[in-house]
Amino acid sequence: MSKILVIGAGGQLGTELTKALVNKYGNEAVLATDFQEAARSKFDYCRFETLNIMDKEALASLVQSENITIIYHLAAILSAMGEKNPVQAWDLNMTGLLNVLEIAKEFSIEKIFWPSSIAVFGPNSDKEKTPQKAFKDPNTVYGISKLAGEHWCEYYFNKYRVDVRSIRYPGLIGYKSLAGGGTTDYAVDIYHKAFEQENYECFLSENTYLPMMYMKDAIQATLQLMDAPKEKISVRSSYNISGMSFAPAEIYQSLLPYFPNFKISYAPDFRQAIADSWPNSIDDSVAQQDWNWKPAFDLAKMTADIVENLPLYFNYKAIK
Ligand SMILES: NC(=O)c1ccc[n+]([C@@H]2O[C@H](COP(=O)([O-])OP(=O)(O)OC[C@H]3O[C@@H](n4cnc5c(N)ncnc54)[C@H](O)[C@@H]3O)[C@@H](O)[C@H]2O)c1
Repeated sequence: MSKILVIGAGGQLGTELTKALVNKYGNEAVLATDFQEAARSKFDYCRFETLNIMDKEALASLVQSENITIIYHLAAILSAMGEKNPVQAWDLNMTGLLNVLEIAKEFSIEKIFWPSSIAVFGPNSDKEKTPQKAFKDPNTVYGISKLAGEHWCEYYFNKYRVDVRSIRYPGLIGYKSLAGGGTTDYAVDIYHKAFEQENYECFLSENTYLPMMYMKDAIQATLQLMDAPKEKISVRSSYNISGMSFAPAEIYQSLLPYFPNFKISYAPDFRQAIADSWPNSIDDSVAQQDWNWKPAFDLAKMTADIVENLPLYFNYKAIK
């Protein structure tokens, strides 16, 4: 039987992915971990342990004592936070991944999932429909660490046959938790402001297009990639995947049918330069071909789903 370890389970992605893994494999099969003890309260439906991924010995002993066969390594410092603490971001994003890859090699872990990001692209990458193998010149420490991480994953696969699989997620938008310090966080925050009946001041300009993805699609893509037969995985760095592309003005428009009095203003800050260095949209034809990737949500469908579900997770009045 597979035994799955989720590292960084308390974050925006981990909160939803861990639940999806438990739904699929049962609560005995999943161990959620995070270095923050406070994350424990999110996991009343499966076991939780604290684990700091910088502590390789602790990881090794957990993998052994729990007979772990599959690892989802999600702990990272994201783009905007990374620019505030570049050395710390590099440290966590690199040492954390290398600890996981080393342990996977040593203990013959069956499969690893590690997320990369559209932040691997930079100002001189193709902007529209950015291809899988586009030129990459990331200029954030987050992007640099993700690109280096992709190369490490490929290296461990080629050299040691570690079956590590990865997706370059676009900005992720979900309703079960708040966003964790990225450049696309505005697209999560805006729904909360609408429900709080406050005006929203957006930290990106109104026409900044970015690749985005609804969390339900991101979870589906992750499970699909991890289920794909080994021989179908032609990319061992990280797969481009695409969900939707929109600008702040468009997500705002998508909310107006539900919140006609909602107002937005724009005050771009340091995150604008990060957003400007990233693609507007992504070409994911390789993921489509290799493991049949296809997103289910566009902007209108996502907004309808979030407006319906957000009040179930936060203390907001439902919209009829
Ligand atoms: N959210 C997005 O839009 C997005 C987009 C692209 C890629 N990703 C990637 O997906 C992954 C998860 O992102 P997220 O949005 O859930 O991030 P998040 O910041 O919400 O969550 C990260 C989690 O890792 C934990 N963590 C931090 N340091 C740790 C350590 N030393 N040991 C153990 N746990 C630690 C944090 O407590 C947190 O719960 C990251 O690798 C991120 O780069 C996210």
